[in-house]
Amino acid sequence: MEKIYAKITGVHGYVPDYVLSNQELETMVETSDEWITSRTGIKERRILKGENQGTSVIGIASIKGLLEKTQTDPEEVDLIICATCTPDMVFPSTANIIANGVGAINSFSYDLQAACSGFLYALATASKFVESGTYKKVVVVGADKMSSIIDYTDRSTCIIFGDGGGAVLLEPTTEPLGVIDSMMRTDGSGAEFLHMKAGGSRKPANHQTIDNREHYVFQEGATVFKFAVTNMADISAKIMEKNGLSPDDIAWLVPHQANLRIIDATAKRMGVGPEKVMINISKYGNTTAGTIPLCLWDYESKLKKGDNLILAAFGGGFTWGSIYLKWAYNG
Ligand code: UT7
Repeated sequence: MEKIYAKITGVHGYVPDYVLSNQELETMVETSDEWITSRTGIKERRILKGENQGTSVIGIASIKGLLEKTQTDPEEVDLIICATCTPDMVFPSTANIIANGVGAINSFSYDLQAACSGFLYALATASKFVESGTYKKVVVVGADKMSSIIDYTDRSTCIIFGDGGGAVLLEPTTEPLGVIDSMMRTDGSGAEFLHMKAGGSRKPANHQTIDNREHYVFQEGATVFKFAVTNMADISAKIMEKNGLSPDDIAWLVPHQANLRIIDATAKRMGVGPEKVMINISKYGNTTAGTIPLCLWDYESKLKKGDNLILAAFGGGFTWGSIYLKWAYNG
């Protein structure tokens, strides 16, 4: 039997309208546009405002746009995997709410939680359902409403994160296009450096956890930075080596957008020039599971059929990974 590949046949993203600029942050915490720009590369981020607006809003808008663009009937969608660490509710899965919102009545759907590596974990997982011949139309959406878990009195985290996300459609092909290889890793001993202290089963919410501000992202930035640089660069170099790819073979590096300095270090380690690196961190900040689909969406018009892409991410868990993807259509 001929090998089946899972190719991406469309990408679409969504960011909320409200722009939180560095200048506005200067009025909220002791920081400066100069510090934020030079330490992270971020100029502004988007915030989802309003009552009852959860991550599903971002997921639904992304997938509605995707299905329209690819002329896909929502009833044909077999599976939706939503990568998020800011679900609408602890349960049910945000993916269930999204599936209902887009009219994917014949699909099944579930969430996958791998923080900033969530989109890559979900893409690696989804591609297997297509490669096995089980499903023909699988949607992967990465979305986060980070503003719901950010402490806007903590200058070391509130300047980084934003809200947004994007989705891709995976379909089968016998041409060698789409997900060619993936390498994923986890190291749970890193949990202590990046986590949310309360609100889970270990420490459910109570008055004290609220008073202690334990329902927000806790991050030891410098430690996470160190691990991110090493691991994201190492795994990207490994996947290139495993697939016999030299820097000249790479059309685009698509890195998780956490910090411009981490992105630069990864590209340097891979030997990939800055002109081949997708970067939009200045506009959106770190949207966690949303960064990679948002990059693909922003750069879609520049992509050509057959382009070799290396996707790379690092995040809470720790989780990290890399995917070697052959782009399947001219943007
Ligand atoms: O996406 C998931 C994974 N997350 C990441 O990859 C994030 C990785 N970490 C980072 O990107 C960086 O560590 C940060 C951007 C979070 C922080 O940058 P840094 O260069 O590592 O700063 P630092 O935490 O070592 O702090 C250096 C100084 C400190 O002051 P002192 O103690 O030296 O006086 C901080 O208090 O910078 C201070 N600082 C700030 N100053 C102005 C921290 N945040 C700010 C701020 N404005 N917003």
